[in-house]
Amino acid sequence: MVLIDLISGARPNYTKIAPLYHVLRNESWCRMRLIHTGQHYDADLSDSVWQDLELPPPDHCLGVGSGPHAEQTGKVMMAYEQICLVERPDLCIVPGDVNSTLACALAAKKLQIKVAHLEAGLRNFDLLMPEEINRVLTDRISDLLWTPSSDADENLKHEGITPEKIRFVGNIVIDSLEKMRPKLTGPGPWKKPYVVFTLHRPSNVDDEKTLRNILETLEKIAKNVGVLFPMHPRTKNAVKKLGWPKHEISGLEISTPMGYLSFLKAVWHSEFVITDSGGIQEEASYLGIPCLTLRENTERPITLELGTNRLVTPGTLLEVISSLPKRRKSVAIPFWDGKTAFRVASHLREVFSY
Ligand code: UD1
Repeated sequence: MVLIDLISGARPNYTKIAPLYHVLRNESWCRMRLIHTGQHYDADLSDSVWQDLELPPPDHCLGVGSGPHAEQTGKVMMAYEQICLVERPDLCIVPGDVNSTLACALAAKKLQIKVAHLEAGLRNFDLLMPEEINRVLTDRISDLLWTPSSDADENLKHEGITPEKIRFVGNIVIDSLEKMRPKLTGPGPWKKPYVVFTLHRPSNVDDEKTLRNILETLEKIAKNVGVLFPMHPRTKNAVKKLGWPKHEISGLEISTPMGYLSFLKAVWHSEFVITDSGGIQEEASYLGIPCLTLRENTERPITLELGTNRLVTPGTLLEVISSLPKRRKSVAIPFWDGKTAFRVASHLREVFSY
């Protein structure tokens, strides 16, 4: 029986491991351990998303919590190494690009445990972003690299990764989304037109001047259309320091982070989305909702080419909004079809000869 560890610990990765968990639990040749590193721990940020995806309680909770990068990464490595030393898995599957991803990949690889990276090959070539460092390093030491789009395959080949290790499986986030899709109809959160706004990247929220600029633009947007702003804890801390909002802003509703289903519903019923998240660029593109991404670059260029995504700055945001098409176009991106987990499972049967 093959023992597989499925790693998670931060909200964006729950939607990546859930479809794989639900497919692999029906396979007789393997058993799984769900490992939650504890990088995210707030009920709003973590538990509600986990539950919406019908994941069972994790087999191991590492409980590392927040901290500077080296400390958080180091604590995950130490805690996961202990688990591997007690019972060694045959494969460690790490999704996405958060600190827990790199930490578990490193800990496993140093114990000569096979590592698989789910969502391999995405690049924005910006090493100022912690996630880009995590992506490059995780890919470099992974034995199996499952890519979501053809640009990712190209990036890996350019970096000299052996083609045999790379398998284009598609975007597993869409598997989770497809499972929820029947539940998206029905009334949205508001009767009037509104947009969904999310913000949490250090490049946007950690610098006071940048954050102030974004919030001022947001206030202007709220004068014309409702704004729903589920606020990430990092952002909550940052806006508190600025003393924002000074007074109630009509048209703006700030909430705690939302559950997966309620968030998708909010996006589905919105006019458009403004965000700096990676996953929301994909979800909005797939649902055909215009997405304005407050970043200089994206590691998901396919959402610009085939999806609904556009890169914006606080300076260009208002102008771009004024010329946004209302039409929702549905897009067909290869292998963004809800069947990625089955392709991963089939690759694993090949690898382990079952
Ligand atoms: C992390 C990921 C980022 C991902 C994001 C999604 C890294 C480097 N970053 O960023 O790629 O897009 O998750 O949310 O891995 N906090 C809480 N409660 C929590 C978790 C965090 O209050 O449950 C606060 C703490 O003040 C913490 C801060 O948020 O210091 C940042 O958390 P952290 O996990 O370091 O990074 P994120 O910004 O969430």
